[in-house]
Amino acid sequence: MRTQVAIIGGGPAGLLLAQLLHSRGIDTVVLERRSRAHVLSRIRAGVLETGFVGLMEQAGVGQRMQAEGYLHDGTHLACGEDMFHIDFAKLINRHVMVYGQTEVTRDLYAARDACGGKVLHDCEGVTLHDLETDAPFVTFEQNGTSHQLNCDFIAGCDGFHGPSRQSIPATVRREYERVYPFGWLGILSHTPPVNDELIYANSARGFALCSMRNAQLSRYYVQCDAQDKVENWSDDAFWDELRRRLPSAVADRLVTGPSIEKSIAPLRSFVCEPMRWGRLFLAGDAAHIVPPTGAKGLNTAASDIHYLFNGLVQYYAEGCAEGIDRYSEKALARVWKTQRFSWQLTRLLHAFPEQDAFDHKIQAAELAFLRENTAAQTAFAECYTGIPY
Ligand code: APR
Ligand code: PHB
Repeated sequence: MRTQVAIIGGGPAGLLLAQLLHSRGIDTVVLERRSRAHVLSRIRAGVLETGFVGLMEQAGVGQRMQAEGYLHDGTHLACGEDMFHIDFAKLINRHVMVYGQTEVTRDLYAARDACGGKVLHDCEGVTLHDLETDAPFVTFEQNGTSHQLNCDFIAGCDGFHGPSRQSIPATVRREYERVYPFGWLGILSHTPPVNDELIYANSARGFALCSMRNAQLSRYYVQCDAQDKVENWSDDAFWDELRRRLPSAVADRLVTGPSIEKSIAPLRSFVCEPMRWGRLFLAGDAAHIVPPTGAKGLNTAASDIHYLFNGLVQYYAEGCAEGIDRYSEKALARVWKTQRFSWQLTRLLHAFPEQDAFDHKIQAAELAFLRENTAAQTAFAECYTGIPY
């Protein structure tokens, strides 16, 4: 088999890149390890920066998002009983789109199918070869048959556990990591959201987040111990703990119901440098991970794809390699800014085991300053709605 750009990973990063390249006549093949049903069963975050919305429109995949997504003009932060609103629309005339990553992925798969895009599922043993030559290739097995995919470039969109990052020599890779001493226990329920916009809550018992997917589908999280197990949490135990971490006026109006999904996600910050090695380009979770506090995982994958897409178009359309040569530098510059925001918000809103009374007072003072200071709120709004590509 041969294609121009081999894309490893059929998650949102790989699919978005494939659809964008297709819009400019550039051929791709997506190699995905899991079945489509498995990929679409994943529950992930659901807050899209304006840049991401623009890329989906550019890829011709924005219709359902615009019809079913929710524009949020701001978000709420709570500290104990105190809750305040940061109004993105009023401060910087920006907003975010609330639309689940599962739906983003579903829309991208539908677009791939509609244009006859090649997405191969159940690909085993994906291995990258000859990355430092102008004729790289990928080998893999599918249904017991071995295949070789020859290509010009490889986009490693295979997430944190995929083979692409490991294909960069260990002597070249520089990895930066912070593992947090807690996780997020998340629940999805067919209940009306407790609030019209998200609530990020710092409480003495730990962090909590009130989010949603639509008017009858709510998504909630509570910070839990990193070693905790989802089987330790009945639905009632979750709802009781969530109420304890919210301002009482919010807790009193919480509508509970049976969980249709319940899981624990670990939290880490991670960046791999460089994001390019020869003809391999890393994008999305393959290159970096953020704690979900700032909803930056999917959105940073999108900015990587923006830089990589434009670099590849410049290469194929103009024979100019400047965009792909500067990809790693440009992507990482924005990656680190979103890492900073995610790390800062995680430190601001969570209870850390080693925290003492002074630390708690500093968190409360930071939130009080954010409540009162327009410049601080403006900086928050610019980071949350998405710094420019
Ligand atoms: N071969 C082929 N595909 C693979 C392999 C492999 N060896 N290993 C992993 N994959 C696939 C996974 O099955 C997954 O579908 O790569 C895809 C990577 O998708 P994501 O993990 O969703 O990563 P990405 O597309 O970068 O999107 C980032 O997804 O997980 C969330 O929090 C993350 O919101 C962020 C977003
Ligand atoms: C979600 O809706 O799942 C969500 C929203 C915002 C976050 C994290 C997760 O910061």
